[in-house]
Amino acid sequence: MKIGILTSGGDCPGLNAVIRAIGLYALNNMENVEIVGIPEGYGGLIRGECRPLRRQDFSDILDRGGTILGTSRQPYKLMTVEENGETRLQEMCSNYQKMGLDCLFTLGGAGTHKTAALLCAEGCNVIGLPKTIDNDIYGTDVTFGFQTAAEIAAESIDRIRTTAAGHGRTMLVEIMGNKAGWLALHAGLAAGADMILIPEIPFSLDAVCEFVQKSGERKGASDWERPYNIIAVAEGAVLDSEAAYKKKDRAFARIERGESTVTQHLAEIVEERTGVETRTSVLGYLQRGGTPCAYDRLLSSRLGAFAADLAAKGVFGVSVAVSGNRIVYNALAEIAGRYKLVEPDGELVRFAKSIGIRFGDAQKIS
Ligand code: F6P
Repeated sequence: MKIGILTSGGDCPGLNAVIRAIGLYALNNMENVEIVGIPEGYGGLIRGECRPLRRQDFSDILDRGGTILGTSRQPYKLMTVEENGETRLQEMCSNYQKMGLDCLFTLGGAGTHKTAALLCAEGCNVIGLPKTIDNDIYGTDVTFGFQTAAEIAAESIDRIRTTAAGHGRTMLVEIMGNKAGWLALHAGLAAGADMILIPEIPFSLDAVCEFVQKSGERKGASDWERPYNIIAVAEGAVLDSEAAYKKKDRAFARIERGESTVTQHLAEIVEERTGVETRTSVLGYLQRGGTPCAYDRLLSSRLGAFAADLAAKGVFGVSVAVSGNRIVYNALAEIAGRYKLVEPDGELVRFAKSIGIRFGDAQKIS
């Protein structure tokens, strides 16, 4: 059996652990197996590039961040557009055949899964693996990379807290997550943020300003402590006034108004209206880089070995997933194009609200 592996979309901690587990499972359990790596995600498949992966390539990579194969973003919407008489999808399918692949493992997020489903529909044997720090892939309780990013973001908030307290400031900490607020929610809750703004719960400027204003009037825990606030802001957080717009129109309207990011805009408004010193901190790619935490190393390894076992059994057209404590799989056609978002009335948000954490929505501030 000849198997190919590619990593596509934004990288995350745990990709190399998955590659290792697929490779080691295949080498230890499958007869006459040949493994190739396809560089830079679907980009490499479009160009028809692959390189052999040998046992030594799987050494010393369990704890390594990034991806040994390299990655790139290849927009889904361009896959079926004809260029020079052929679509990228057709190029990928013909290169899959030319490479003599019996199975292709695609390690990626929601966009990668959509393209994987297209490849499947064209007859390629594909198995997807759910990668993303955003944790927004439909059909899995958790994605690999998410836990590591949540740890980094929570630890960063812990650090920001001490400087916020020293200065009596409001700190807006921008956390990755464009469509889904899982990362801001988990990190914010784990680090005791006072307010968490996520795309799924549009926020009102009035509610945020009122909260900062009121907390400024509170007394600190001791005579020495000045009030301060930590607000975790998902990069895709939306104002209630712009909630009805599509992402593209929203971005356009923001540029027209001369606003940079939602976090920066919010900081300016909060400081202007409340007089409370307000600063922003964008965590950015720190959340995606570096070594995976122990949880992600184990999860990635289990997912990789399970996926390789599916290939050995001839189960294709699926993506592996976590359900409870078990590794399972879903049909790619079933999950492609769907997202797992935070439920505004779900258990996690209700719990957070029950202990006084704000979401910037029309919640009464006491
Ligand atoms: O998909 C993961 C993610 O980290 C998002 O949270 C973020 O918006 C995006 O990738 C950033 O992507 P890029 O690497 O293309 O800047």
